[in-house]
Amino acid sequence: MKRTLVIANWKMNLNTHEASMLLHRYHQHIATHRDIEVVVAPSMLSLQPLSQEIDRHRFRLSAQDGYYKDEGGFTGEVSFAMMRDLVHYSIIGHSARRIYFNETLEVVREKVAAAVRNGIAPIICIGETKQERDSGETKQVIHDQLTTALRNVTSDEIENIVIAYEPVWAISTFDGEPAKPDDMKKALDYIRFQVRELYGERAAADIRVLYGGSVSDQDAAAFIGIEGCDGVLVGAASLNYAKFAGIVDAAYRVARERE
Ligand code: PGA
Repeated sequence: MKRTLVIANWKMNLNTHEASMLLHRYHQHIATHRDIEVVVAPSMLSLQPLSQEIDRHRFRLSAQDGYYKDEGGFTGEVSFAMMRDLVHYSIIGHSARRIYFNETLEVVREKVAAAVRNGIAPIICIGETKQERDSGETKQVIHDQLTTALRNVTSDEIENIVIAYEPVWAISTFDGEPAKPDDMKKALDYIRFQVRELYGERAAADIRVLYGGSVSDQDAAAFIGIEGCDGVLVGAASLNYAKFAGIVDAAYRVARERE
């Protein structure tokens, strides 16, 4: 059975001490379950210390990004090769990276390849902007972002990939509003359709596709409960351990109902 994923993206928040405190609260207050995988993505700075503090039986660590070369004169960057023993996952192609740091489709593709090469499972974020949505380009954007990101991924590797549909207009950083379940379902179905076209029926059924964008403890169950939604990528609400615990509980309830 696929495990539901609940991912905490702490973005550029919390120094190492604060990150450690929040992780401690997660340990105390978040009930974890066999069917749910809870992933914590702190800043790059906190990965190393948190990798020693984290209860690996209950939580997994993720990077928020990484550079696609393994080593060399790339001042200021950290490679996936350097993180290979620290993290299980890495977020790649987050809209903040695409928008603020001009990450192109090709850069995202290289990063996905580099993560896979180093044994790190990519959580590939895709999604359209408000403007693209208003001009009816949602499917085209999903198609282009997904097919480019997966270009070097083989059919043996696809099972370790996670796709997060994060419409830019829904993300709190960009003053977003959560997507309507209907919009989300259409996008998720289209993502699975694309995976089927590229890798076949089995891969499309097995791949985990998540939703992200202003998810809260109030609406998490409604999103995760939608057929074809395998979890959520949570930003702002994950900085509050009580809200995040509520989201993990919601995921658990939905997973139990599904059984
Ligand atoms: P949000 O962030 O939940 O704060 O909207 C989601 C994300 O950016 O991954």
